[in-house]
Amino acid sequence: MSTLSEVIDYMQHHDRLQFFFTATLSVLLSLGGSHPAAAQATAYSDKPPVLLGAAWYPEQWPESQWDADLSRMEAAHIHLVRVGEFAWSTMEPSEGKYNFTWLDHAIELAGKHHICVVLGTPTAAPPAWMTTKYPDTLRVDENGVRDEHGNRQQFSFASVRYRKFAHEIAEKMAERYGHNPNVVGWQLDNEYASPSFDPEAKAQFHEWLKAKYGTIENLNSHWATAYWSQTYDNFDEIPVRDKGENPALLLAWKRFVSDTWKSYSENQISAIRPQADKRQFITTNTMGWFDGFDEYTVHSVLDIAAWDDYISTDTYDYFDNGARHDLTRGYKNKNFWVMETEPAFVNWRRVNTPLEKGQVRDMAWQAIGHGSDAVEYWQWRSALNGQEEYHGVLVGADGTPVPVYDEVKQTGEEFEKAGKALESTSPRSSVAIIHDYNSRWAIDFQRHNIEFDPVAELVAFYKPLRTQAQAVDIISPNAPLDSYKLVVAPALNVLPQEVADRLIAYVKQGGNLLLGPRSGMKDEYNALNVERQPGPLVDLLGGRVEQFYAIDKEVPVSGDLGSGTADVWAETLSTKSTDTHVLMKYGASNGWLDNQPAVITRKVGNGSITYIGAWLNDDLLAKLTAALLQQSGVQPIIPNTPDGVEVCLRTGANRSVLILINHNKAEARVDLPHAMRDLLASDNTSRTSVDLPGYGVAVLEGK
Ligand code: GLA
Repeated sequence: MSTLSEVIDYMQHHDRLQFFFTATLSVLLSLGGSHPAAAQATAYSDKPPVLLGAAWYPEQWPESQWDADLSRMEAAHIHLVRVGEFAWSTMEPSEGKYNFTWLDHAIELAGKHHICVVLGTPTAAPPAWMTTKYPDTLRVDENGVRDEHGNRQQFSFASVRYRKFAHEIAEKMAERYGHNPNVVGWQLDNEYASPSFDPEAKAQFHEWLKAKYGTIENLNSHWATAYWSQTYDNFDEIPVRDKGENPALLLAWKRFVSDTWKSYSENQISAIRPQADKRQFITTNTMGWFDGFDEYTVHSVLDIAAWDDYISTDTYDYFDNGARHDLTRGYKNKNFWVMETEPAFVNWRRVNTPLEKGQVRDMAWQAIGHGSDAVEYWQWRSALNGQEEYHGVLVGADGTPVPVYDEVKQTGEEFEKAGKALESTSPRSSVAIIHDYNSRWAIDFQRHNIEFDPVAELVAFYKPLRTQAQAVDIISPNAPLDSYKLVVAPALNVLPQEVADRLIAYVKQGGNLLLGPRSGMKDEYNALNVERQPGPLVDLLGGRVEQFYAIDKEVPVSGDLGSGTADVWAETLSTKSTDTHVLMKYGASNGWLDNQPAVITRKVGNGSITYIGAWLNDDLLAKLTAALLQQSGVQPIIPNTPDGVEVCLRTGANRSVLILINHNKAEARVDLPHAMRDLLASDNTSRTSVDLPGYGVAVLEGK
């Protein structure tokens, strides 16, 4: 079966369930088009392959209490602590006077408890002596107001002086701990976030523009500055803003910010790397969908990716959370770490409700299932004071366990049981979603419909794909595509020619490409593509967008796959080539949309390109993704799993580990394609089906 219309015929005449014909794990292991084995994030012969950890702040407690803290960690199977990332005033109490004795002791004592250490450079919290004496190290906000000392992250990422201090402290730490066998890696700073708009940053932006555009005439031309008399005579005239400006300027600023965080990282890497053993990785902790800068740019200089996994909705949405794991895995296209996660609750939501009992373990296993090799709780123990007194912890200020400690302990025990089997395994997928910061920014600068949230739109595609294929990679537009059978670009608004050429080559080589609404509208400078959407892909598609519309009422959409609705966004499409087919049309609505094509598709050799011009409702989109997966030859790992049970597979050279997570409160049964070893059962019994209690987890090894 090769064309989408043949697939549709087939699906119309067969029970849809038959589409999910039985796939065995052995078939999966030999997935022809799957992504090549991604390496484990880290591998230490003397440490557990999967690490459970916590953020520990020894500088906040008398040394006499450390041993009790570390003993309790060890009892919970915690073998990792992150230390130091806010301890600058303890490490360098006054300018040039260092005190690392306490840190020497903490690292050594952790080692005695079989706990290894990630060291954080403390640059997210500069000491008061510095910001007082050198106020130019403080960041300036978009309104030109310079920060005062207090809180944290009050530094300017562009300040040459601040970078000198950051280099010095990182170098001092690396000289001391770069060869410490109990230090496994480094976290630079903490959650890079806000840029600075200070005069130094502004001058650097102008230099950056000069290097990119060469001449001011070239910039004027790409930015179309004749509009509103924006023509510049020289680079120094260009304002620095992050909203309400020419979209070309706004995009350039975001790219400058990305490059500046990259050089901010390189500054510290250049201090650490020459002093550190190769086995010590260097990373930073990222924040899921946060788009203040381009993570792909920053990760080009980091060894592994790591992120802080706090649920982003009021309750745990495992699709959104899983997508953020896959996003993080895509920064380096290999396994990653969860550097922080919540021990039941945080302190910064409107209402800080806890995860339900069982969901902390569920989340930890979801991280492993999506390719994390470590899960660390923030934080170990309640600080006696400070802005986060109410945050979830594993032990209270008195150092004794709070209720969630037991659930974490159980998780740690399980990590130990399954760790060996998980070693050197990683998720593999033959489906990729392209995630592009440029496109997200471009849409956010001019949403046109306030409801068009590019992340929500990406997750709308992720959900059915993850459910149907049970493995999805989320990748940069510059990642290699040849290992994928289906590539989905939900809203690839900015489409430089070079990316378009790679997509064209992918389809011509037999790949299946699905484009969502707003794709291919802009060139790399955020100017409109004159061919209309999808710009450089119009010829390949044999059709184009005639007009886009923001909509605020559901519009009927139907075709051979079924009927449903579109909302938020609807584009009318046209076909130019005789072999480009209309797959869905709009029904009666505002007159403009009535009976116009909403989805078109074209077969190109053994490949295909499909364009969806609307934000379809979940059911209709799921029908379309199912048909495309079938056309692409992608099968689920375990067919017919109950709703709310997530299937994750990690594959290594000659084994696979299946992780089943029941995100439901009610129990659920999963039939396995063949007998597998239950790694969490005391006797490693063999099973052909698994009964999962509410929020239950099973970890099974296949042959
Ligand atoms: C962030 C920070 C931590 C802590 C937590 C609290 O992730 O990195 O220092 O403030 O939030 O949830």
